[in-house]
Amino acid sequence: MRGLQALACFLCLWLPWLQCDEPASTGPEQVHLSYPGDPTSMTVTWTTFGQADSVVVFGPDPGAAFTRSARGQAMKFVDGGKLARTMFVHRVTLSGLLPGQRYAYRCGSPTGWSRAYLFQALLNGSDWSPRFAVFGDMGNVNPQSLPRLQRDTEMGLYDVILHVGDFAYDLHTDNARVGDSFLRKIEPVAALVPYMTCPGNHEQKYNFSNYRARFSMPGGTESLWYSWDVGPAHIISFSTEVYFFLEYGQDLVAEQFRWLVKDLQVANTPERRKERPWIITMGHRPMYCSNNDHDDCTQHESVVRQGLDPHRYGLEDLFYKYGVDLELWAHEHSYERLWPLYNYKVYNGSTKAPYTNPGAPVHVITGSAGCQEQLDPFVPEPREWSAVRIEDYGYTRMQIFNQTHLWLEQVSDDQKGKVVDGIWLIKQRPGAKAWQ
Ligand SMILES: *[C@@H]1O[C@H](CO)[C@@H](O)[C@H](O)[C@H]1NC(C)=O
Ligand SMILES: *[C@@H]1O[C@H](CO)[C@@H](O)[C@H](O)[C@H]1NC(C)=O
Ligand SMILES: *[C@@H]1O[C@H](CO)[C@@H](O)[C@H](O)[C@H]1NC(C)=O
Ligand SMILES: *[C@@H]1O[C@H](CO)[C@@H](O)[C@H](O)[C@H]1NC(C)=O
Repeated sequence: MRGLQALACFLCLWLPWLQCDEPASTGPEQVHLSYPGDPTSMTVTWTTFGQADSVVVFGPDPGAAFTRSARGQAMKFVDGGKLARTMFVHRVTLSGLLPGQRYAYRCGSPTGWSRAYLFQALLNGSDWSPRFAVFGDMGNVNPQSLPRLQRDTEMGLYDVILHVGDFAYDLHTDNARVGDSFLRKIEPVAALVPYMTCPGNHEQKYNFSNYRARFSMPGGTESLWYSWDVGPAHIISFSTEVYFFLEYGQDLVAEQFRWLVKDLQVANTPERRKERPWIITMGHRPMYCSNNDHDDCTQHESVVRQGLDPHRYGLEDLFYKYGVDLELWAHEHSYERLWPLYNYKVYNGSTKAPYTNPGAPVHVITGSAGCQEQLDPFVPEPREWSAVRIEDYGYTRMQIFNQTHLWLEQVSDDQKGKVVDGIWLIKQRPGAKAWQ
């Protein structure tokens, strides 16, 4: 018997057309949520390896737990690696939700269901205080902050997660098996609260196709750039990577820039800005940093900041012009908070209260959730625009209390969850008017 099995194994290795694999599983895995931008909706995304229907059964909890069902679509995705592994990514958007109501759901099909999960539909309007966990650069190996994030999420500390690029290291690695493993690992977090993303440099392989296939962000650009409203904030997610991987299309830089201008213009109309005064951006590679490597942010003329030669599509002027309040970045595996800053000049609100009515946007770089590349050290002498630098594994918490008050704090996982930094960002006037 042993001998026969060994022979069969040997034949399967050398003659793959014998198709000795077990039939591809139609059991759902890698379940995660994303917010389509409407408080009566939530999108559920998952993967199967065999073809299957895309169904979510759900209902209010407690009470009528699985009384409703919604259908969606499965997209066949073929990874760009040698094995051309095939999977089906299922997307179902639940609609008709009651804002603030808790729901129970399972996803899958009659050939296999996920376990049951709970989520809370986001609240409606601008008059509430959304809470976020924010971080970038979390890998499949050494995702040190993940257990703590899971505990926080189960305790109900967050309404939304913002993962600011660089997943899994990498989603495509080992014929996309690393992506599968990573998405299974984050499921205990990402199946409970919307997990909102932007692409980082680690997603670039095969033209970002694993990233585009596996996440389901709102808007028509396959998760590359989009914006959404939550409580008193307008949040813009974009790709810094269009500036670096020009081989995938030089036009993407211009296309995204034009979209950013339009989006910022709309968010800045007086009625809109009155209702949602906070404009917050998330993009992977920062404009400024004081790390001891040769990344773009260590260059005086950072490409993200100044654009491509000669100064085309630079983002610093754009975000300043439209009064962006807070810019969230990652890429550097550390935490760094900057004083309010524009064009290398610090614009403190006052020396005593630098973040009360600041004269320029505030930048926070938070890329130390944990990955196999470990932490990035800093240069010994930071420039005068750097306020706080922490080289620990950890993540950022953000709560937008109301139209004038936003709280940011940094959690060190190395120091057992200790809050190692915290600021109030306070703004009495929204928009670029505040800069004067
Ligand atoms: C959400 O709020 C808007 C404006 O306040 C209102 O028009 C709309 O009906 C609300 N939607 C739900 C589902 O409560
Ligand atoms: C890469 O993907 C983008 C869409 O995300 C597409 O517009 C572009 O043409 C693609 N580039 C190449 C070289 O395939
Ligand atoms: C900004 O405020 C901080 C904190 O008070 C202070 O250390 C720093 O020197 C100030 N920078 C400038 C340029 O005023
Ligand atoms: C906004 O929240 C802050 C912090 O909780 C509070 O001090 C302030 O009074 C609030 N403002 C309004 C208008 O409710």
